[in-house]
Amino acid sequence: MKFFIDTANLDQIKEAQDLGVLDGVTTNPSLMAKEGITGKENIINHYKKICDIVTGDVSAEVIATDYEGIIKEGQELAKLHDQIIVKVPMIKDGVKAIKYFSDHGIKTNCTLVFSAGQAILAAKAGATYVSPFIGRLDDISTDGLNLIAEIRMIYDNYGFTTQILAASVRHTMHVIDCAKIGADVMTGPLSSIEGLLKHPLTDIGLAKFLADYKKGN
Ligand code: G3P
Repeated sequence: MKFFIDTANLDQIKEAQDLGVLDGVTTNPSLMAKEGITGKENIINHYKKICDIVTGDVSAEVIATDYEGIIKEGQELAKLHDQIIVKVPMIKDGVKAIKYFSDHGIKTNCTLVFSAGQAILAAKAGATYVSPFIGRLDDISTDGLNLIAEIRMIYDNYGFTTQILAASVRHTMHVIDCAKIGADVMTGPLSSIEGLLKHPLTDIGLAKFLADYKKGN
């Protein structure tokens, strides 16, 4: 399973990259705003900085919601760097744009996906990634992980090559459960990745090993 970090915070991206397990980055306008990155030029420059830090795919979201606008913006974003994946919302013009990008060799991430039906459309249009938001489904008492399982089954039934990018991952158990189900990618905060490190028996065992080593030296 690929690990993407879901942030626009450069320090956290560097930290995840330094751990050696990072495969890419996802961002969205809210994550950019959280870091105080506003205005088209600043956002574009920020994408370039992220691409300089990581070696994998970097999702850059279009703001336009009409077909022509999405195509124009997506083409501009794709030209920034060969790591850029154009992130397009799951709306009618978005699906049409994903089909256009797919036909023209531009990779896409279909975002704001909340149902299996939407995931089928994204795959039919040729999206590189589909992003079901599991945390936001959990927030409204709907099983986000069940959606990942449904999409996995449907894509496997038909051999769709669109990669399932479990998004809106909030914590470490989401990561583990997504891995069990067979999500191709998960994107979450740094804490969801670092949480995988933790086990009290590891800490206790290491403390004992070090104490025993000292006894003999
Ligand atoms: O990857 C999508 C993500 O940014 C949404 O996460 O936590 O705002 O639901 P969240």
